[in-house]
Parts: sequence; structure tokens; C-alpha cells
Amino acid sequence: MTAQSTNLEYLPSDLERELLPHHVAVIMDGNGRWAKRRGLPRIMGHKRGTDILKDLLRCCKDWGIKVLTVYAFSTENWGRPQEEVDFLMTLFQRVLRQELREMLKENVRIGFVGNLKALPSALQAEIGRSMKETKDNRGIDFNVATNYGGRQEIIQACQAIAEKVDKGLIQPHEIDEATFEHHLYTARHCDPDLIIRTSGEMRLSNFLLWQAAYSEIYFTDTLWPDFDRSEFRKALLAYQQRDRRFGKV
Ligand code: FPP
Repeated sequence: MTAQSTNLEYLPSDLERELLPHHVAVIMDGNGRWAKRRGLPRIMGHKRGTDILKDLLRCCKDWGIKVLTVYAFSTENWGRPQEEVDFLMTLFQRVLRQELREMLKENVRIGFVGNLKALPSALQAEIGRSMKETKDNRGIDFNVATNYGGRQEIIQACQAIAEKVDKGLIQPHEIDEATFEHHLYTARHCDPDLIIRTSGEMRLSNFLLWQAAYSEIYFTDTLWPDFDRSEFRKALLAYQQRDRRFGKV
């Protein structure tokens, strides 16, 4: 993990530590456009986006944010050209292998959310290995949404609960929000406080649909490969100015 901005190594003085979000989630959008604007192939945008992600993870740790969840590959992304899909799968696998040592050193616990069974078996093996080896780390939780779709997540939770009802393990009237959350991929984490989407698009695109109920959402025109620490600082400043009421007055 190479730090890209050294001037923002520590929490900037205009951010209040007590008001930092506990959990930040990011829709990393704009890699393709970043590459196109430079006359480069789209995959160069994904490569640069990976470097930005590595620094964001380190930044979250440096600044005291405890959970980072990123949208790396959606259930809809299979519809991209086959060579881009193949590139992304190989990239995920390679980055996981190369960064494992660094994640152990930096006390990162990595997790994955999504339907992992549909991923290439070599990637599944790397995912399994990285989760197993980092499971006792507590410095920061880093979750990668891979083959993830919010609707699909909700459906699989319904199926799992229905099976328990069918077996008589749970009564229909006992199903509440806590039961439901327990069956989501994100069961072990609290909901994101802040969701960031880059590249000027203003939608959730099937990301954390249940979990986003009370998240603050920050949109920026900045493309993901340009989202450095100073951009993250801006997002956190905007977040700290929000008045979170959770439906109350
Ligand atoms: C969206 O930009 C980006 C993606 C679908 C891929 C994001 C993946 C990474 C940044 C690599 C992460 C690596 C690991 C190991 C988790 P886009 O291609 O949709 O851009 P566009 O909208 O400009 O075309």
C-alpha cells in the first residue's frame, strides 16, 4: 500500500474526531471515463482506481475510521465486455495476493459481501485465504462488495428466513428488523454512516439498499481515480455539517 498523499497523513485539523463516521461505504465510479479522457484503455482506470483504494484504506486507518466498505463489482457488472470482466477478476485476485502481507502488518480485517459462489474458483480461494488470515485483526474492517446486489442480498435473506420458518425454527411473527439484518451479508457490521459516490452519478445502483436507510449520502463529480485524501477530507467535512435526525426532530 503506497501512500499517495503524504501531506494529509494525520486527521486534518478542520475535522472533528468525535464526529467522524464509524462506517464509510464507497461507490467507486468513473474509472472508465478517467481512462478515456486520457486516451487510455479502460483497464488503466481500474488500475489507478486500485491505487486510490489502497490509499483510502490506509487513510481511514490513519484518521480513525473503523469500517470501510467498497463496491468493487456489482451483479450487473457481468454485462460488461468479457475482457473487462476477466481483467477485473484477475486484478482482484492479484491485489489480494500481493496485499495480504501489508494487510496483516496494518492490522486490516478483510471481508467480502456478495454472492461469492459465482466468482472464479481461483478468486474464491484467494478470498477465503485472505479472510482466514486476517480474521483476528482489529485495526480496521475492510469489506469488498464483489458480485454484490442489494436486491439479490434481500432475496437471499428472505430465502434463508423462509427455510427456517419451514423447518419450524422461527415463527413468522418473530421476524423483525434484527432477524432480517442477521441474514444479510453485512450482518457483522453496523449500517454505513456515510456513503460516497464519485463521478457525478446520483444514485445508489443497488448498493446496500437495506443498510442505506439512514446513511448520509455524498455525491461528487470527481472521478474515482482522482479521489485522493483531500477529496475524502471534503466528503468528511460535508458529513460533519449534516444534521442526522434518524426520523426524529
Ligand atoms: C466503476 O467505474 C468501477 C468498477 C466497476 C470497478 C472498481 C474496481 C476497482 C477500483 C478495483 C478495486 C480493487 C480491489 C482489489 C477491491 P466504471 O468502470 O463504471 O467507470 P465509468 O462509469 O467511467 O465507465
